[in-house]
Amino acid sequence: MPAFRAARGTRDLLPDETPRWTRLERLAADLATRYGYRRIETPMFEQAAVFERGVGEVTDIVEKELFRLAPRTDESEAWSLRPEPTAGIVRAYLQHGMQTWPQPVRLAERGPMFRYDRPQAGRYRQFSQWDVEAIGDAGPAIDAELLELATRFYREAGLTGVEVWLNSIGDQNCRPAFVAELTAYYRAHLAELPELERDRLERNVLRLPDSKDPRMAALNAAAPKLTDRLCDACAEHFAGLRAHLDALDVGYRLEPGLVRGLDYYTRTTFEFYVTGREGQQQAIGGGGRYDGLVELLGGRPTPGIGFGIGIDRLILALAETGAADATAGETGPVAVVVGADPEDTAARLRVATDLRAAGIAARADLAHRKLGKQLEAAVRDRAHFAVIVGDELADGELALRDLAAGTQKLVPVEDLAREVGRAHAAHRHGSIEG
Ligand code: HAM
Repeated sequence: MPAFRAARGTRDLLPDETPRWTRLERLAADLATRYGYRRIETPMFEQAAVFERGVGEVTDIVEKELFRLAPRTDESEAWSLRPEPTAGIVRAYLQHGMQTWPQPVRLAERGPMFRYDRPQAGRYRQFSQWDVEAIGDAGPAIDAELLELATRFYREAGLTGVEVWLNSIGDQNCRPAFVAELTAYYRAHLAELPELERDRLERNVLRLPDSKDPRMAALNAAAPKLTDRLCDACAEHFAGLRAHLDALDVGYRLEPGLVRGLDYYTRTTFEFYVTGREGQQQAIGGGGRYDGLVELLGGRPTPGIGFGIGIDRLILALAETGAADATAGETGPVAVVVGADPEDTAARLRVATDLRAAGIAARADLAHRKLGKQLEAAVRDRAHFAVIVGDELADGELALRDLAAGTQKLVPVEDLAREVGRAHAAHRHGSIEG
């Protein structure tokens, strides 16, 4: 047993796995560009108040899951690792005066998030999200644009059977009456409530329908639904969104119980699931509208909407459907430079350096071992070619061995990069090397 292991709820992504991540990161970057969402990078920790105010004090994320950093000095501000990116992006929107940019400001961010939750399959303490936000547009057309973008991401990633769960949770006009009704409902069932939920009933009753506690399932199923009590403006917004989704052929399933676990949401809320995997911890993405968040963090009232896709869960889902390996990229070097004289590492490094300068993925074997061992390692590396540095170098030539075809020929040093590049390209396009 090694002395140290990665912390519980965190993982090392090893080189055999990272090509899958690289592929999805490239797809995300490409789609963001195609749709006009520009990259932003916010810090991995913020003042804890950004999350307490933004996500909400009475949420699982802030109450139980925040990774708070120990203060360094007495006067330090309270900091926390980010549990999600939206609050930090809105903080940046305000800090950098993005209200004066043409609205909406379309932004995308990718990176690790941290939640101190109980680890299990698909639930980690450090996980990665692709997050997309449009700040400064009240919708509903932009809501549909974002939902269509998210479904395209899953589709182009190779995942099939993705369902969009959709709801509207109203706004400050229709929510107060609903909150009163919901409070009355749960008060009438006080004896059935677990302790935490009883406490939350008075502090933030909207968290109760979202509870993960199995003892709440039956009560929640019968609880009043906000969708039936939307004010005219919210109902009109929701109808507008649905009309736009129909026009874009984005299918969805209405889920009146979908409240989401963050306080900042208003009106549109949604989550993404793979059909047949709809458990609490199985959402592969989620998001919604947050028309009050900019104001909560100190700005003037500004609407916004966005989504976050869990990359870890997407990769798990792809592996389960068998779609991941078919599309994973190549990882091995194209050429490995080996040598008859194990001690002459300088010559091997020189040849490899020239190949790399010409844009070819090459590795030099720098171990002081026999040629046969060096060639074995090149095959294990899945290299296409071995470049053998031998006595012919005195005449300006190197041996180029095609490891897949088992052929070998002498090539002048100055032609090596061109020759390797040409043969590799021909091989990749499936033609027979001549
Ligand atoms: P969220 O639903 O909390 O929303 O997280 C979005 C996605 O991140 C989830 O659907 C899931 O795929 C993934 N995820 C969350 N927690 C974990 C975990 N512990 N382990 C693995 N994956 C996880 C948000 O974070 C909002 N900021 C989304 C948003 C953006 N709303 C508006 N804009």
